[in-house]
Amino acid sequence: MAVFWNSTREIVTGGAVAASKKRMAITVLPIAEARISERVATAVRNGLASSPKRLPPWLFYDEAGSRLFEQITEIPEYYLTRTERAILSADAGAMIARAAAGERLRITELGAGSADKTRLLLAAAVRRQGPVIYEPVDVSATALAEAQVRLERELPDVMVAPQVMDYTEGLALDRPAPGERRLVLYIGSSIGNFEPEESAQVLRGIRAALSPGDSLLLGVDLVKSPDILLAAYDDAEGVTASFNGNLLVRINREFGADFDTTAFAHRAVWNASASRMEIYLKSCKAQTVQIPALDMTVEFGRCECIHTENSYKYQPGQAESMLVDAGFMPNATWNDRRGWFAVCLGRVE
Ligand code: AVJ
Repeated sequence: MAVFWNSTREIVTGGAVAASKKRMAITVLPIAEARISERVATAVRNGLASSPKRLPPWLFYDEAGSRLFEQITEIPEYYLTRTERAILSADAGAMIARAAAGERLRITELGAGSADKTRLLLAAAVRRQGPVIYEPVDVSATALAEAQVRLERELPDVMVAPQVMDYTEGLALDRPAPGERRLVLYIGSSIGNFEPEESAQVLRGIRAALSPGDSLLLGVDLVKSPDILLAAYDDAEGVTASFNGNLLVRINREFGADFDTTAFAHRAVWNASASRMEIYLKSCKAQTVQIPALDMTVEFGRCECIHTENSYKYQPGQAESMLVDAGFMPNATWNDRRGWFAVCLGRVE
């Protein structure tokens, strides 16, 4: 039924809109989920049929993958989360004050993730203004539901309004109330997964959903010594390797594939000229994999790789230029003491 409504939605016009919106509200989750599983099938089919083989990094985040990513954020080599959290611990109050500029804030976050770092910003907003509306945006309804339960328990003054949405396809946000400004959080260097043209498009999409006075807080990982970068994406405990390999576990489960997960190895590479970490799943031998639900047979040569992620690392000042290119006015930047990570605030003038 959800699929039926989804497919007929385009022909709803004029007077029918109000009625259809009411029904849509009830079916938003199944529609989004049907669309997402189609998107997964298309990504796997196209990615494994292409040469070189690739799979998009958003596929990492099924339930097990999201748990593994949470584990990554705690391993000693993975400095990103810890470093950004240190910046937010020190400066959340200043960030909120600048974004609010004397008005009330409504906070929207792209990618629900673990609300751990977000909590620092929400707590700072509550200290400043009392009750805060928080709208986490994510493609996963489950991730959103978990974030909602956790946050409402820990921060009773935060009203969580989850938005199931793929923000890469544009943001549909309602206008904040008069005298209210929106602060969009796009932290954790999530933007680093996108190619430069794609990230420019995502930022322009965010800008298009905002009004003068609104702002965007963008967190980016900065270029640093390759040893530090390589260790962060190939940790001694092998958590990143499991996170990467979980893609194959997921394809086995969702599409009945017969990937031998022990016959693929995790590989991390620093690509200096592209300024990005790259991760791959490398086939340890020549092998053939069947994917019945996609009606596919995939051949791997010995050492052939599936490219599973790019994680771009930026120069100081680059996040500010990206904000400018997307139509924001850079307002302030905060760094950790080592200069490993940057959190930038851009405003719509
Ligand atoms: C969630 C995209 C920021 O690029 O560091 C962690 C994902 N991949 N270890 C990153 C990731 C391997 C992470 N981001």
